[in-house]
Amino acid sequence: MNNDTPSEGSTGWHGRSTRQWQAADAAHFLHPFTDFQALARKGSRVITSADNIWLQDSDGQRILDGMSGLWCVNVGYGQQVLVDAAAHQMRELPFYNAFFQTATPPAIELAELLAEVSPPPFRHVFFTGSGSEGNDTVVRMVRRYWDLLGQPQRQVIISRVNAYHGSTMAGASLGGMSGMHAQGGLPIPGIVHIQQPYWWEHGRPRGLSREEFGLVAARWLEDKIEEIGADKVAAFIGEPVQGAGGVIVPPSTYWPEIERICRRHGILLVSDEVICGFGRTGQWFGCETLGFQPDLMTFAKGVTSGYVPLGGVLVGDRVAQALIERGGEFAHGYTYSGHPVACAVGVANIRLIRELGLVEHVRNDVGPYLALAFEDLASHPLVGEAQTCGLMGALLLVKDKHTGQPFPPDLEVGLVCRGHCFANGLVMRAVGDRMIIAPPLVITRAQIDELVALVRRCLDLTLADARRGGWVLV
Ligand SMILES: Cc1ncc(COP(=O)(O)O)c(C=O)c1O
Repeated sequence: MNNDTPSEGSTGWHGRSTRQWQAADAAHFLHPFTDFQALARKGSRVITSADNIWLQDSDGQRILDGMSGLWCVNVGYGQQVLVDAAAHQMRELPFYNAFFQTATPPAIELAELLAEVSPPPFRHVFFTGSGSEGNDTVVRMVRRYWDLLGQPQRQVIISRVNAYHGSTMAGASLGGMSGMHAQGGLPIPGIVHIQQPYWWEHGRPRGLSREEFGLVAARWLEDKIEEIGADKVAAFIGEPVQGAGGVIVPPSTYWPEIERICRRHGILLVSDEVICGFGRTGQWFGCETLGFQPDLMTFAKGVTSGYVPLGGVLVGDRVAQALIERGGEFAHGYTYSGHPVACAVGVANIRLIRELGLVEHVRNDVGPYLALAFEDLASHPLVGEAQTCGLMGALLLVKDKHTGQPFPPDLEVGLVCRGHCFANGLVMRAVGDRMIIAPPLVITRAQIDELVALVRRCLDLTLADARRGGWVLV
């Protein structure tokens, strides 16, 4: 199709051609995590509509959304009850704040519902507008907790290399992305990092089984606590499964040992559930799948299935009791903490997840089905390891699957593969040479077959490139 010519498929009600959208985009819109010049040269893909697990772009091309938008559209696109909930609330009361001893019914209802679906110690919630704001709240809340307990010297929060906890100053500092730290003088003081529990990187070269490695990796936390002094450490934060870092599923031994270490030293344990929450791993929260009980949980994304922005922190009894019973104002909050429209959509979304039985669907049906399909993909000549957890999956592309030798980074094989996905109507993300997916939870077995067939085709095309370029011996 000629990009310059408006046609039915290329314009819809927006009334502009793809080329026109791209020109206006490049002229005015600074995209997140984007090389602006490179994008302006290429032109962005303009997504105009979506239904179920399918996106449509301004050229009318249908694309299978293997990433649920950005790990968030858990109930899939086009769910009318969410649209109705937002419209109804906008008519009724589009906004009121929660600052000055006021509340709105949707915020109260969502808080109540979140307490119902969370593990038992979680009965309170602090609302934010996003996951990043949620993690900023975590930093302030854990320090406030230790102040209230008369231990204000407990300031340090330990996180992990290659973690992603958001883009605000505190979120990016908690995260362990070196490229982010290099911009803007991060991390802020009082945040330190230990290595990630990535068996392929740290365990396999040392000949450790995954389970042995899980314990070794967890004990890096204990070493760090002892180095700093437990009386100075406030909390440890981690994603149950690292998402943006490449869907790194830790060994089963890792999290229970992390919990034991946190308890032993009295430090708070924070689970960042922004990706893993709301059914993604086959339980309501990732910590339930990975076998640990945190004191705080950050959430966002799946709470509204991304239909409107909302995030927050679920606060377990240990911290909530201190905040409430010891009194005084927690001097923290956002204009949109408990936004009524966002909360109304959150309520409708959680009810829908329940009605559709999506958590069980992931746990008992499509999660195991995807795991089998990925086991099969593991035999592909380019795949070094294949991992899934619920409806998240990763394929590591390697130069030599027998020795595990990686591709030289300058070949950017992940991006080559992503290019094929893009051209073949599949959204699959590349994190280095890890190809990752996290499709909407409503996906069916037949749709997983379609997704996996597309993945295999793109792997084959990447292998053909690699053979042509002499990058592989197979
Ligand atoms: C684990 C995790 N925490 C926090 C965030 C930040 O959330 P937001 O982009 O809503 O600020 C993300 C975003 O991807 C995430 O994956």
